[in-house]
Amino acid sequence: MTLEFDYTPAANLLRDRVILITGAGGGLGGALAVACSTLGATVVLTGRTVKKLEAVYDRIEAAGGTQAAILPMNLMTATWGEYEALATTIEQNFGRLDGIVHAAAHFKGFATLEDLEPREWLDSLQVNLTAPYTLTRVCLPLLRKSPDASVVQVSDDGGRRVRAFHGIYGIAKHAAETLIAEFALELRNEAGLRFNSFDPGPMRTDFRTKGYAGESAAATPTPESRLARLLWLLGPESRGVSGQAF
Ligand SMILES: NC(=O)c1ccc[n+]([C@@H]2O[C@H](COP(=O)([O-])OP(=O)(O)OC[C@H]3O[C@@H](n4cnc5c(N)ncnc54)[C@H](OP(=O)(O)O)[C@@H]3O)[C@@H](O)[C@H]2O)c1
Repeated sequence: MTLEFDYTPAANLLRDRVILITGAGGGLGGALAVACSTLGATVVLTGRTVKKLEAVYDRIEAAGGTQAAILPMNLMTATWGEYEALATTIEQNFGRLDGIVHAAAHFKGFATLEDLEPREWLDSLQVNLTAPYTLTRVCLPLLRKSPDASVVQVSDDGGRRVRAFHGIYGIAKHAAETLIAEFALELRNEAGLRFNSFDPGPMRTDFRTKGYAGESAAATPTPESRLARLLWLLGPESRGVSGQAF
């Protein structure tokens, strides 16, 4: 697998697109939100911690990006009704969705399956698998209102091959890739919809320090350096690409 992708997005790549990003207050989600908004998209920032979402909103303003919207949501506890309310709010304000990036992730640290806290199994499945399923499903009517909608699941190497100690995080990521590929297969006759996964590789974020506390931050790529493939997947040049794992 090569993580490098030589791609320079056009200045107006995402003009007039409405893109929902989960984990938008995080390292990758925040960097992506700023990039999308400066390329013309209206970004709906969702995440658990309002202060982090507000900080990304401010970064978008400072970068001169298109005005964003904040819709906080805790993916660990959200009910089906809350997901539907989020979709309704997006519909009322924007009328449609042109993209979803599932960037939120729950990970407490490496552990053997034998040592995993029982609660951790449920929490990880909830945030890393049930949330992308539910959000994608409730947003399908909004995605169908777009002529060119792209859903991207942010994955991980631990979701592509069996790796010891990755525990339920790796298992949930693996299942989330299957989920997104199944959406792609079932909806393959709807030309306006595409579903793909993307593994960004190691990135210098809070998430990374949970597993690799001793790692040199300077040697780990920034999330900004991992955006090219995601931007391509969200823009018109990847039209027709579906069911792929990048
Ligand atoms: N960093 C890496 O080395 C690496 C490598 C491969 C793949 N990835 C993947 O890249 C994606 C982005 O990760 P990152 O590195 O940017 O990590 P990050 O900075 O920790 O961001 C993760 C985001 O997920 C959000 N989140 C966690 N639990 C949530 C919940 N219950 N409800 C709503 N939001 C929740 C966090 O929000 P709060 O901060 O508000 O809790 C945070 O904004 C993840 O899908 C991860 O699996 C990362």
